[in-house]
Amino acid sequence: MTISLGIESTAHTFGVGIIDEKGNILANEKKQYTNKKGEGIKPYDVSQHHYSCAQDVLKQALDQANLKINDIDVISFSQGPGLGPCLSVSATTARTLAIKYKKPIVGVNHCVSHIEIGKTLLDMKDPLVIFASGANTQIIVKDENRYKIIGETIDIGIGNLFDSFARDLGYGFPGGPILDKIYFEANPEKYIDLPYSVKGMDMAFSGLLTSARKLINKENKQLIYSFMHTAYAMLIEVVDRALSYTKKKEIIVIGGVAASKALKEMLEKFAKQHDIKLYIPPMVVCLDNGLIIANLGLKQHLHQKPITLEQTKINPKFRTDQTIINW
Ligand code: KG4
Repeated sequence: MTISLGIESTAHTFGVGIIDEKGNILANEKKQYTNKKGEGIKPYDVSQHHYSCAQDVLKQALDQANLKINDIDVISFSQGPGLGPCLSVSATTARTLAIKYKKPIVGVNHCVSHIEIGKTLLDMKDPLVIFASGANTQIIVKDENRYKIIGETIDIGIGNLFDSFARDLGYGFPGGPILDKIYFEANPEKYIDLPYSVKGMDMAFSGLLTSARKLINKENKQLIYSFMHTAYAMLIEVVDRALSYTKKKEIIVIGGVAASKALKEMLEKFAKQHDIKLYIPPMVVCLDNGLIIANLGLKQHLHQKPITLEQTKINPKFRTDQTIINW
């Protein structure tokens, strides 16, 4: 039975996961960079965090799986997309292990890994993918042997939209989960009209943000409800159009915003009306972690030609449609 160890470090999280060919999760350990000052992410600082915890997280994962590094058959790492200095940590760690222990190495696309873990753990065949995270809002489908983005935000990602508005309202980061709670305290019948901007298969959120900012007052419950509801309605309109083009019968939601109860409620209604199966993977796999990397690395290792060390260069702009899906 082939066992894959995966290393994730595209952004704020350094993680090591281990999975076997049957989809058994053997380990999933991680450490997330935080800073108390409420500053944004400085890539160099984050990479130093990752370097400093890499050895410990690796050891914890092997201990959790009750394995030695020699029991591992393939070393997988997140090759992109992501922040260059952060990506270097998973690449360097993976190369070191591959050379020292004479193991094959596989570089994987982080976005594709989020989709493929859903396929491994849930009984899904050919879903339409909603990738909703801080920076990304994309509608993705598999076309022949690649995942293709057929609709997306043309300005800000939906998670960043929530975080920016929440910051204006005086909440901390990340603001998405806070707004998501307040959403359910509002009265849906008192919806406030806000700009709604869908252009074909794409969405633009900045007009919504600008208008909502101008309406901030002392009592903002109704505004928060209307703001989130409008953003999700735009997303679901694109999903609706994508389903009618592609005839897919399953939807999976991935990325941090998949944790949103408001989005779940709206999508459940939509899925029921359209007779579509909705899958929202457990949060433990929606958030960045090494397991998703181990999983995709294992599939590539079993179905594709091995890569050389020269091909392990990081690729901060690695596109979703550059990965061949031949399994
Ligand atoms: O995928 P992710 O962990 O990483 C980044 O892309 O950075 O997504 C983080 C995003 C943040 O913008 C956060 O506000 C949002 O996911 N988020 C949520 C919820 N939980 C996390 N947004 C709405 N409702 C939630 N419950």
